Amino acid sequence: MLNIVLFGPPGAGKGTQSEKLINAYQLVHLSTGDILRGEVAAKTQLGLEAKKLMDQGLLVPDEVVVGMIESKIDSNAGANGFIFDGFPRTTAQADSLDKMLERKGTAISMMLALEVEDSELIKRLLNRGLESGRADDQNESIIAKRINEYNTKTAPLKDYYSRQGKFHSIHGTGTIDDIFSSLSKVITSSVK
Ligand code: AP5
Ligand code: MG
Repeated sequence: MLNIVLFGPPGAGKGTQSEKLINAYQLVHLSTGDILRGEVAAKTQLGLEAKKLMDQGLLVPDEVVVGMIESKIDSNAGANGFIFDGFPRTTAQADSLDKMLERKGTAISMMLALEVEDSELIKRLLNRGLESGRADDQNESIIAKRINEYNTKTAPLKDYYSRQGKFHSIHGTGTIDDIFSSLSKVITSSVK
């Protein structure tokens, strides 16, 4: 299986590049942010609880997202592999994911980390916020909170996957096609 952690701060292009990668490599896209927004839209209990945190730019509890991911993996038995977008976001999530995949006889193949400067992230997210309706894209102080959550809780996962020899850094600015081509080169050279 090809199991990719597509990593990066808010607005780095994880969702954008996932769409291209799933077509190129026949993978299943698992975005915890998208799954949570689906729960919010459906007004489930989980969605109502998660919305309070998401709207403030804060992470939802680890056990909530770990449970969601496991049920999505189980409902896609027979997949070629998965792109994990926005997950894992804490060391506890990464540990749970490793154990979960081991139980299922597979593992993370690589982490691809999109590197983008804060000023560009803020510009992209404010721009998207004009049309997306995403509450967490609406102002710079919420975006700053999301970036702070990333820096304090999520960025340490680069070291986590480095220690496993799975970390790859990718320059995340430029055209969407050029970034996709950089990602594809790393995938091709890593799966040989
Ligand atoms: P999530 O939905 O994961 O949001 P995020 O990580 O903040 O990132 P985005 O989805 O906003 O950005 P992206 O990297 O996907 O970039 P995109 O391709 O959209 O999480 C939302 C919330 O859910 C969290 O804050 C948290 O509360 C909760 N949550 C989710 N997962 C969780 C977890 N595991 N644990 C706990 N809580 C969790 O691109 C952004 C914009 O830039 C778009 O408009 C796009 O068109 C544009 N763009 C893309 N590429 C380029 C380019 N090359 N040049 C110019 N513009 C570009
Ligand atoms: Mg996204």
